[in-house]
This record gives sequence, structure tokens and C-alpha cells, in this order.
Amino acid sequence: MERIAVMTSGGDAPGMNACIRAVVRSAIYYGFKVFGVRRGYAGLIGGEIIPMELRSVSGIINLGGTILKTARCEEFRTKEGREKAIKVIKDNNIEGLVVIGGDGSFTAAGQLYEQYKIPIVGIPVTIDNDVCGTDYTVGFDTAINTALEAIDKIRDTAFSHERIFIIEVMGRKRGFLALEVGLASGSEIVLLPEVKYDLDVICESILHNREKGKTSYIIIMAEGAGNSFAIADQIKKCTGFEVKVSIIGYIQRGGSPTARSRKIASLFGIHAVQVLKDMQESSNPKIVGIREEKIIDYDLEYMLKNEKKIDKELYELAQILAI
Ligand code: F6P
Repeated sequence: MERIAVMTSGGDAPGMNACIRAVVRSAIYYGFKVFGVRRGYAGLIGGEIIPMELRSVSGIINLGGTILKTARCEEFRTKEGREKAIKVIKDNNIEGLVVIGGDGSFTAAGQLYEQYKIPIVGIPVTIDNDVCGTDYTVGFDTAINTALEAIDKIRDTAFSHERIFIIEVMGRKRGFLALEVGLASGSEIVLLPEVKYDLDVICESILHNREKGKTSYIIIMAEGAGNSFAIADQIKKCTGFEVKVSIIGYIQRGGSPTARSRKIASLFGIHAVQVLKDMQESSNPKIVGIREEKIIDYDLEYMLKNEKKIDKELYELAQILAI
């Protein structure tokens, strides 16, 4: 294998650039000619392939977003779309691919491999931390810290006005981000898609605690756990208290990555190239990850066939601390 390509796909996350840098630098170190695919799978279909040199990735380790740009690509979901991408891969003599993204990007990588046996290594980068097989994804830590900064500020106004706040965080259909943020912000209630909640019980506890002198509340809600405005209305109706909604939104996806996001991005990037280097033409696609603080790699198939579980113990601990 002499020529490899790297791409970023799906929702961007802080640390994507640090990953690109690590892949490009380590690939050159191991003697590869390395190319960047712009705009994810859309760029692969469109032939947006650019050569990457050591200096192409200078000064980007601290930058949010992705210098290669990213996209969500409907066309790649079709066989015809993938055929166009395969032609581009062949025309450019690309012999190996590093895909930086989340579960949707890896599902697409699996479909590509089904159609054209090319060595592929995935690097899990998403603020959602929902990639099965790795304890952490790149970007998760930064998103937690970004959300915390906002929540700490909202807490000031919640306290002063004696209000209940529902603060919605991202995470698509999963509650990994909400759980960590809930625990770290010391929120009173965390609503997750994975754990059934009873609004009557929540309202009773709000009323009971108000009697005991607790006048403000922070409820952290995962975006996949329901409609925050509808829940706010219900709590208002049931308790009679003012309830405000604050959706943190896309701010969680941007900004300079934390030290932890940069570190795992760098280690994942190097490991991905080392794995790719040892792969044969028909080797099964792999994902790199971190388990118990050790950098690992595993079959993409494992990720596709299994679902990451929420840490119920952590959820219970968050509840104990919120009494
Ligand atoms: O997967 C990352 C993420 O930010 C999710 O948390 C969110 O639900 C989704 O992407 C938003 O997607 P889009 O960028 O397509 O609006």
C-alpha cells in the first residue's frame, strides 16, 4: 500500500483537525503518499481529492471544525452513488482509507467495503459518544465542557429568579452527553432517552423540595428524550412554577478542543495509520478506540452489530447527588 486518503464525515466535532493532522503526519512518517478527501462522502463521489503534505496540517491542532470540511451525503446511501465513489478511488489509485466520523459514517464505510474491498480504518469522532466498542469518541470531552460553561451561567440566573430551567443538550437519539453533563453540572434532574421518566414524580419532587426551601432547578435533557417545550408546559401546569427552556445547540459542536480531545485525536490518528499499514487488500474494516485508557482497534462489524449501553450506575449516582 502506497497511497492512502483521509476524510471527515457526518457532524463535525472538536478534535477532527487534530485527527487529520495525526493521520497525515504519521502516514508520511510511515512512507505513504497521503490525500485528503474534501466534504466527506459527497467529495468522494465528486472527486474532491487533494494532496496532503506535512505543512498542510500545520497550526490546526487547536482548531475546531475540519479543514477538509464535512457533509451528510444522501447519494452515498445508493449503490450508484457508491459506484461513482469507487471510480474516484480507482482513478486516484487510493489503496486505503481513513474515515473520521461517527456511526453513520462507519455504516457507510461498511457499505463501501461490501461493494469494493479496500482497507478502511474508522476513527470515532462525535460529540455524541455513541460509537459502540470505544469508551470515548474524540470531541465528547470538549462538548461536555462547552455545555458546562453555558449551564454554569444559566444556573446563576435560575438561582436569582428562582426558576426551573430545562436545558437541552445534543446527542441525537442517545443520552451519553446529557448524562455526563448532568453529573458534572450538578443538575437536579437528568432526562435521557434510555431511562423512562415519570413527569408526575418529577413534579411531586419539585413541589416537595420547594417546601423545603429549594427554589431553583436545573433539568438537563437529552435532545432525544422528548420535546423540551412540551415538558416545560407540563411541569408548569403541574407545579404552577415558571419553567424556562434553553437549548444549547450547535455551540456544542464547535470551538477549540480540550487537551483530552486533542490527545485521543492524536493517538487515534497514529493508531489508525499503524493498523492500515498492516492491512491486506481484503482485510475487514477496523475502528480504533479507547478502552480503560488503552488505545485499541476492533472490527467495524462489531460496532455495526452492537449497541453501546448507557452507564446506569452513573445515572443512579447522579440521582443520589441530586437529592
Ligand atoms: O451527531 C452529532 C450531532 O450534533 C447530534 O448531536 C445532532 O443530533 C446532530 O448531529 C445534528 O445534525 P445536523 O448537523 O445534521 O443538524
